[in-house]
Amino acid sequence: MSYSSNGADAGSTSESAFTSAPNTAPIPSPAAVHAPWLRDAVFYEVYPQSFNDTNADGIGDLPGVTAKLDYIASLGATAIWLNPCFDSPFQDAGYDVRDYKKVAPRYGTNQDLVDLFAAAHERGMHVLLDLVAGHTSDEHPWFRASSQPERNEFSDRYIWTTSWVEGAPGLPFIGGVAPRNGTYILNFFACQPALNYGFARQEKPWMQSPDSPAARATRDAMVDVMLYWLELGADGFRCDMADSLVKYDDDRRTHTIAAWRDMIGRVRERFPQAAFVSEWGRPTLSLTAGFDMDFYLDWRWDGNPNGYCMLARDTDSQIGGAPDASFFRATSGTGAARFVREYLPQYEESRGNGYFCFITCNHDCARLAPRLSPREEQIAFTMFLTMPGVPYIYYGDEIGMSYRELPTKEGGYTRTGTRTPMQWNGGANRGFSDAPAEKLYLPVDTSSDAPTVAAQEADPESQLNYVRALTALRHETPALQSDGLFTVLHASDDDRAFVYARTAADGSSVVVALNPGLEPAAVELESVPAGVGGQVLLSRGGSAALEGSRIVLPAQSATILR
Ligand code: GLC
Ligand code: CA
Repeated sequence: MSYSSNGADAGSTSESAFTSAPNTAPIPSPAAVHAPWLRDAVFYEVYPQSFNDTNADGIGDLPGVTAKLDYIASLGATAIWLNPCFDSPFQDAGYDVRDYKKVAPRYGTNQDLVDLFAAAHERGMHVLLDLVAGHTSDEHPWFRASSQPERNEFSDRYIWTTSWVEGAPGLPFIGGVAPRNGTYILNFFACQPALNYGFARQEKPWMQSPDSPAARATRDAMVDVMLYWLELGADGFRCDMADSLVKYDDDRRTHTIAAWRDMIGRVRERFPQAAFVSEWGRPTLSLTAGFDMDFYLDWRWDGNPNGYCMLARDTDSQIGGAPDASFFRATSGTGAARFVREYLPQYEESRGNGYFCFITCNHDCARLAPRLSPREEQIAFTMFLTMPGVPYIYYGDEIGMSYRELPTKEGGYTRTGTRTPMQWNGGANRGFSDAPAEKLYLPVDTSSDAPTVAAQEADPESQLNYVRALTALRHETPALQSDGLFTVLHASDDDRAFVYARTAADGSSVVVALNPGLEPAAVELESVPAGVGGQVLLSRGGSAALEGSRIVLPAQSATILR
């Protein structure tokens, strides 16, 4: 079969400057006990500043999220991932946390967050918060204390060299801004000093081990933050940059995995049902660290896409116009086999340990529209919402909101165009806010063809209603849920058809048939699962017809059949 051959190392896309000799010893999996609600979960990612403004200050807020819970539930979403909503100077849109235990005043109060948890729970929904575990804002009181020349409780909470002229080999650092005689290591932007989880190899006297009291104190502090919010009703965490806690770690992230196992393990002693999803992108590692879920991230480095990018974002252009090899593009000419070659080994190796999750987008990558047409986007959604693992819908994608070219806001840079206000209706500011337009967090899309929830509610053929139909089918069909087995029935480098089966524990199967191309396709399937006779459950762009093992797929179509 064309897709089963090369066995390329799924872990080869990330380069760490600090790889020691690879540790090939397998890391045993933790007992894979996942909250049962994950078996049929659909997540909705809410970017709080851009979702719904209830006090007319131009910025979305937590009461605004609570007010829209029924809408979110109407999408078939059962859970929310809320981007950081904590006190912050907002130089990286809140990923620069100044106080982990305080809701940022612009979003409301801690009580507003507690109210959101309660309102979600009343509807049987769950809420994951964003845990920025690897760094804080340089305005965090821990960092302020750590910057002082006098020894104190926080001196080793961050990573400092012992001289103002010495940097850290291979790591970004900053000098000259603190009274302490040393420079400190950064995790991301200049405002985000790295917390000290230790070094896998201690090459300098100031590098501490992951078992040092200081590294343990950092883990204790993060456990304390998690328990604080879980006690108030949070259901778990999306963990930011989860693979980079311990510096100079090996390719298998042995020490970072140990750090997470320690933290997640201690949290689960108190909250066994807490759910964790990692921003990591390597389920064969992350799921052994105790995470329930990992994201299939948007990775395309030096023009080399991972499987997810091969599907949806294999191009240099955020908005379209450049050559685009994405599978979902009608004109790309690419088949699904290269995606399958990258995905399948990761799926198979991680199956049983947790979920490798498809996203429609997130706050860090370009929305699919306008680069993908509505039909192309709907074919993409058909796949994302019928794959194994737990799907994540980014706010606004359900109506096909567009990426927009905008000046940077709060460290967004090219990500800014993906973070614009939700388009609710045709009213002022598209229903996002009653503030004057110039006071909005980001400009709302006022173009006459900008999609809105209100307009799409009224149109049975809209993307919004198609997404609802897909999630409804998923909820009523065990084969389509998180654990249903995935089997490729046709994927090729030579044609555009992609056909796969999902199979539930009781043996019942459904078949998903996609043809993004401009020509109809007819292919012979490797096999047809027992009980599948060609009954169409849902389709877009015409329905595929199954006769024996031959399937005929209309141009630009997606079909789910039984
Ligand atoms: C993650 C977040 C991103 C943030 C970065 C630094 O990648 O998703 O938005 O800028 O971490 O915290
Ligand atoms: Ca507001």
